[in-house]
Amino acid sequence: MKKDMILVTGGTGYIGSHTVVELQKAGYPVVIVDNLSNSNKEVLDGIERITGIRPEFVEADCTDMAALTALFDKYPGIKGIINFAASKAVGESMQKPILYYRNNLNTLMNLLDLMGERGVKGIVFSSSCTVYGEPDVNPVTEAAPIKKATSPYGNTKQISEEIITDVINAGAPFKSIILRYFNPVGAHPSAEIGELPNGVPQNLIPYLTQTAIGVRKELSVFGNDYNTRDGYCIRDFIDVVDLARAHVIAVERMLEDKSPEKIEIFNLGTGNGLSVMELINAFERATGVKVPYKIAPRRAGDIEQVWANPAYANEVLGWKAETPIEDTMRSAWAWQLRLRERGVM
Ligand code: NAD
Ligand code: WQD
Repeated sequence: MKKDMILVTGGTGYIGSHTVVELQKAGYPVVIVDNLSNSNKEVLDGIERITGIRPEFVEADCTDMAALTALFDKYPGIKGIINFAASKAVGESMQKPILYYRNNLNTLMNLLDLMGERGVKGIVFSSSCTVYGEPDVNPVTEAAPIKKATSPYGNTKQISEEIITDVINAGAPFKSIILRYFNPVGAHPSAEIGELPNGVPQNLIPYLTQTAIGVRKELSVFGNDYNTRDGYCIRDFIDVVDLARAHVIAVERMLEDKSPEKIEIFNLGTGNGLSVMELINAFERATGVKVPYKIAPRRAGDIEQVWANPAYANEVLGWKAETPIEDTMRSAWAWQLRLRERGVM
């Protein structure tokens, strides 16, 4: 049976591109909308090389209601949306809060506005473990309290969750699944798509792989005196392909009306906390490549430890993170090597 069309906003981005691949593999026709503010069109070639299918692509800004309206006119068959489009750099959001509130919130509100009138059945929203701040208890369940956001970026995720809840409680004729990602890492095992950080990476894995390949001199490990088993911060590093698969299940759940709830929230993580040093060791073990590093002072605003209790997603979605961390580290490294091959970095 032919499946319904899915609109993927931010679909040429890191998590979006991996999700488009999994949607196509599951038989969904996809249209991507992206303004290319943090990605490029070559990603479409990478997707096509993996699946043999080139997704429909509209270059447009989701804060532009006229452009979105035209998109829905062109593709009236859209029945589901996955909204990845957002600005996501925590540090930048401190410098440019209006840009973050405007981009992330207007994008969401435009989509919610159009969905009702265009007969879209549901929207999957990319949220983040950042909503839990420094949790009182680990692993974190979805019932853990939401802590005051420490950045405008984090605040946009909290406000977005509230906007979706308010709109649905007001009787909007669609469903929503909110996915709270922990720390997505790695790349597609084909090395055709992966993460493309802009400038000096702020996140651990891109900095690590760029150091391993010699673009950066050494990795600064921020803090070794945390109250954790080895003194380093602990995170739940989730393979991006595992993460992408969860979106396909979420879309199916909404489109096929499998849940009685109009709004659901799931943690997407592995359930295992790994320290920053354990991750470096896993990378070296998996690739045989040494990472020059130094211990540096703590980074302001860092959470000491956070990892997911993914039991709810495991049970209700029938989804589980499966990729061993060594495989994830190998895919991250293969992607870095591919970027070198292509002369990107
Ligand atoms: P990304 O920057 O690689 O992808 C986002 C894409 O959205 C980019 O291609 C960008 O060009 C596009 N975009 C941004 N604003 C747009 C707009 N107004 N209109 C159209 N396109 C726009 O980021 P990602 O890592 O793939 O993250 C995807 C989503 O997941 C984001 O909402 C992010 O906040 C969320 N998230 C990411 C992480 C992470 O660590 N990567 C963790 C938790 C949540
Ligand atoms: C991970 C660990 C650093 C870089 C961020 C956002 C969060 C979410 C995911 C979107 C920390 C350490 C890092 C480096 C290091 N994104 N580190 N040296 O901070 O967990 O989360 O991305 O929603 O909202 O805040 O991820 O990759 O930056 O850091 O030692 O050069 O690695 O201190 O302990 P983080 P990260």
